[in-house]
Amino acid sequence: MGKVKNYILKHASVRFNDNLSPALLIVNFTAPMEMKFDQNKNMLDEERQGEATLIKSNYSGNSRKLYLESYGCQMNFSDSEIVASILCDEGFTTTANQLEADVVLLNTCAIRENAESRVRQRLQDFKKEKKNRPGLIIGLLGCMAERLKEKLLEEEKLVDLIAGPDAYRDLPSLISQVDGGQKAINVLLSREETYADINPVRLDSNGVVAYISIMRGCDNMCSFCVVPFTRGRERSRDPESIVKEATDLFNSGYREVTLLGQNVDSYIYAGGGLKKEILTYEQKSNATSFSELLVMVAKVSPELRVRFSTSNPRDMTDDVLHAIASNQNICNYIHLPVQSGSTNVLKNMNRGYSRGVYMDRIKAIQTIIPDCAISTDLIAGFCGETEEEHKETLSLMEWVGYDFAYTFKYSERPGTQAQRNYKDDILPEVKSRRLAEIIKMQQKLSALSIKKMKGNTYRVLIEGFSKKSDDYFRGRNSQNAVCVFPKEDYKPGEYVNVLTEDCTPATLIGRVVHDQQPVY
Ligand code: 5AD
Ligand code: SF4
Repeated sequence: MGKVKNYILKHASVRFNDNLSPALLIVNFTAPMEMKFDQNKNMLDEERQGEATLIKSNYSGNSRKLYLESYGCQMNFSDSEIVASILCDEGFTTTANQLEADVVLLNTCAIRENAESRVRQRLQDFKKEKKNRPGLIIGLLGCMAERLKEKLLEEEKLVDLIAGPDAYRDLPSLISQVDGGQKAINVLLSREETYADINPVRLDSNGVVAYISIMRGCDNMCSFCVVPFTRGRERSRDPESIVKEATDLFNSGYREVTLLGQNVDSYIYAGGGLKKEILTYEQKSNATSFSELLVMVAKVSPELRVRFSTSNPRDMTDDVLHAIASNQNICNYIHLPVQSGSTNVLKNMNRGYSRGVYMDRIKAIQTIIPDCAISTDLIAGFCGETEEEHKETLSLMEWVGYDFAYTFKYSERPGTQAQRNYKDDILPEVKSRRLAEIIKMQQKLSALSIKKMKGNTYRVLIEGFSKKSDDYFRGRNSQNAVCVFPKEDYKPGEYVNVLTEDCTPATLIGRVVHDQQPVY
């Protein structure tokens, strides 16, 4: 906290009526995905965009009400739980009704341009609300706050408060500044902050699957990506606090945790805050690596499933694959973004691997973990991408046989290496056509993947009702494929063996069996 410095921007022209109880509005925004394959809930979940975060608070009655709306990747949703937890300790309660909020916070995403447009549109709704209730406090958090900083206060005149991803402990003081009639901003990035000691009490989850942030920031500097600028330098969280959070979750009934980081394979903890480049040889050999962390979390209980996201082809080592292969409760599923199938495009993207190196990583997965599901991220129409290079992406997709993919049109982001060094020269209609070809290819591959699974019996963790009928439950197998089956007397949080007898292009349909051993 001592290291956090506040910038108070005094705008004499915008002062709020001190007699009115101010309202706190938190809004967290992200980019909509061009394409999402539903089984994978770890990345951008279109259905969750704009969801309000609700957590348990010790306060009630006259407490100030916080409406916190989140957008973007799962990391942002986890951050919103941290934000809500910090403010609930300060006397707030969370609400799902923006009309009763004293404070509205939007937790935003900046990864593609359409993510930001969405936030700006949403701010128009709050503008109307603020006209009726001038005491309402409106704050912007997350990546868009970090990218635009004080520009946001000038551009979006109704915003009272701006806080970047490393400034959430400072929110109570930022809100007091707004209470005092000032605008408040803290967008300082930290080399230490991991929020390790903040364990949010989740109220609105299904009580079965939870997410745990294990690190923050990213040091990779992929040329298209704004994340290193908005989330700062990479730092890993103390493994003890991660294991404790997993244990607490297991003891309160959760049966699956997903360990989250921009690049989990690069996780290394050697006592706090240190950057891995400056660790001495001795510090490195005593440090906890990602594969060691995975095993530590898996040991919490054989009944606790462990997943993780996101892996990076340049950092994923075989010890991680061996940890998955030798621990039954670490799921057989890896999200390994490739972005492009062309070595030349990958070089311009500064991804640090070639098509051949990526293929070698896939071969290692398939050898060490047979039946491991693999998903990816792909960008269509990056600067200078030729038709041939686009075709290399399609052929690589087919060679890998991805189970799922998240696919995007390239969106130029201000300040990135790509924006500074290359021309965004692929025509919009060409980007759209290439994206459509990528989506079509993935639909074929996803349908094939589901068909291949059909007929097998899987151990499925029940998460809740199927989307279509309350007579059916929905859960996932180790490979992250969604299975739907008659609910009988089972309960969410239980494991069942499901014989998959049918399928749609995205879902396995089956029934619980007792006389067959699951393949996984
Ligand atoms: N344009 C399009 N897609 C992007 N991604 C990141 N930055 C951009 C951008 N500027 C995609 C990448 C990344 C995923 C989270 O978002 O595929 O893996
Ligand atoms: Fe962005 Fe690359 Fe870091 Fe992923 S690994 S967050 S794409 S810079």
